[in-house]
Amino acid sequence: MTDKKIEPMEQSYEIEDPVRTIGILTSGGDAPGMNAAIRAVTRTALAKGLKVRGIRRGYHGLLKEEIIDLSARDVSDIIQRGGTVLQTARCKEMRTEEGQQKAAAICKKYGIDGLVVIGGDGSFAGAQKLSHLGVRTIGLPGTIDLDIACTDYTIGFDTAVNTAMEAIDKVRDTSTSHERCSIIEVMGRDAGYLALWCGIANGAEKILMPENNNYDEDAMIKDILANKKRGKKNYIIINAEGVGDSMNLAKRIEAATGIETRATILGHMQRGGSPTCKDRVYASTMGAMAVELLCQGKGNRVVGYKGGKFLDFDIEEALSMKKQIPTHQYEIAKILAL
Ligand code: ADP
Ligand code: F6P
Repeated sequence: MTDKKIEPMEQSYEIEDPVRTIGILTSGGDAPGMNAAIRAVTRTALAKGLKVRGIRRGYHGLLKEEIIDLSARDVSDIIQRGGTVLQTARCKEMRTEEGQQKAAAICKKYGIDGLVVIGGDGSFAGAQKLSHLGVRTIGLPGTIDLDIACTDYTIGFDTAVNTAMEAIDKVRDTSTSHERCSIIEVMGRDAGYLALWCGIANGAEKILMPENNNYDEDAMIKDILANKKRGKKNYIIINAEGVGDSMNLAKRIEAATGIETRATILGHMQRGGSPTCKDRVYASTMGAMAVELLCQGKGNRVVGYKGGKFLDFDIEEALSMKKQIPTHQYEIAKILAL
């Protein structure tokens, strides 16, 4: 990818005009598969005879005019790479009306009449503001947290949950050998999907999630002792980052049960790594779909995957939707821990 910055285009901006130049940015936490989406947006747009402009470092880079032209070769050799080649950032200024006006003006200055924003709900809120200011925007759900209500799939979750699952399997091996209690903390500041899926996939005895934070520690300690009596060789607790306190919890459990307890915080390794096949294919499909929508003259939309289908939603509608941890899955996890 070239680092050469480009000059603004001398062109008037009309929302009714067919899209001619598509901008693309990644925003918020990175997620494996974002590169597949960048590649798909770029190549689908180029195949349709459109120009593509990559915006580095999310909204921060947009406000700093860190804008580059993207060719088909610029996105070669990236589908298998984790992270985002465009980099990502969090940007306070974009939350202000002044910042949003400036961002829209910069899009117009560079002839960007269609913008694809890959990120989570916060990034979509920024995209919504730009839409209202005349820049057609399409949001693609990119987050390892799976916490976007309009979609059953988010770019990066599949890779992250598999990375976490494999790491937890390894901790489990040593936990069994030493007959310990192991607390493994997975990402998810506000969402417990990674914890829930790992809890089921790794056969955990207990899952702690921010959505269900008032768990009964005394009951858990009794369960750890009963588990030992039942002849089980370890006790695995998957704890979400949003619940946290894993190190102290380990000390309290060890003191109360006499069973050696260790805490492992998996951290950012869950956000990196080569995307799974699913993340590459779904992100590619969503990237191509974003360009199709822009070419149909649509904007202010978010692409999602629901009920086995790729769909698009109005951003307002998408942001107003609520998502809850599926109770039946949580109940299944509890039964399977017997
Ligand atoms: P995510 O997109 O993963 O939810 P954040 O919540 O950190 O991540 O949001 C990413 C960026 O989107 C923020 O740093 C900010 O620039 C922009 N953003 C978030 N909320 C808003 C908002 N209400 N209005 C405009 N921009 C926003
Ligand atoms: O990308 C989502 C997420 O991984 C959350 O689960 C986590 O709480 C947050 O990002 C942490 O982000 P950072 O450490 O980059 O601020």
